[in-house]
Amino acid sequence: MNAPAPRPGNAAARYFFLFLVGLAVGVVATVMTLRALEARKDHFPESVMHVMGAHVGALRASVEQSRCTASDVLPHLQALRTMAGDIEPAFGPDWAEDKRFAAHAADLRAALDGALARPPLSCAGVGDVLKQVGADCKACHQDFRN
Ligand code: HEC
Repeated sequence: MNAPAPRPGNAAARYFFLFLVGLAVGVVATVMTLRALEARKDHFPESVMHVMGAHVGALRASVEQSRCTASDVLPHLQALRTMAGDIEPAFGPDWAEDKRFAAHAADLRAALDGALARPPLSCAGVGDVLKQVGADCKACHQDFRN
């Protein structure tokens, strides 16, 4: 008894099907790997940065809307000061031991301490604080952010 001869088109269809299965498995495996890597990543440093960015954004919006009373402004300055104190713990000893990095973080804290000691009473004053704080953010980013 002879096995029926495979029809010519069949082999090509089978290989193509296997190719599609392989492709799908590859896509799933890639997504799973990327997710696992993302989950293992330490989100503390970028979280500190994003929270500071959000409060700077809120202060800018206050100035744009001419809402610069103490209750508009102080909570954001306090939150910025708290987060600025988390910069070294978030980035860890490798960064914190770098003198320039620590100096940039200290400059930012000094600017915020100054602003909290003499809170700005007008939008012009908030604008000045934002200029100083923005300069301190930028100084560190220029040296350490790639
Ligand atoms: C002492 C150094 C330092 C200071 C001060 C600093 N940053 Fe950063 N910032 C960094 C570094 C380093 C990165 C890059 C982090 C990374 O890639 O993991 C960064 C990244 C960021 C990011 C992008 C985060 C991300 O990876 O998605 C934002 C937003 C940000 N900073 C906002 C601010 C703001 C706003 C201030 C000032 C209030 C500020 N930073 C002050 C060092 C600093």
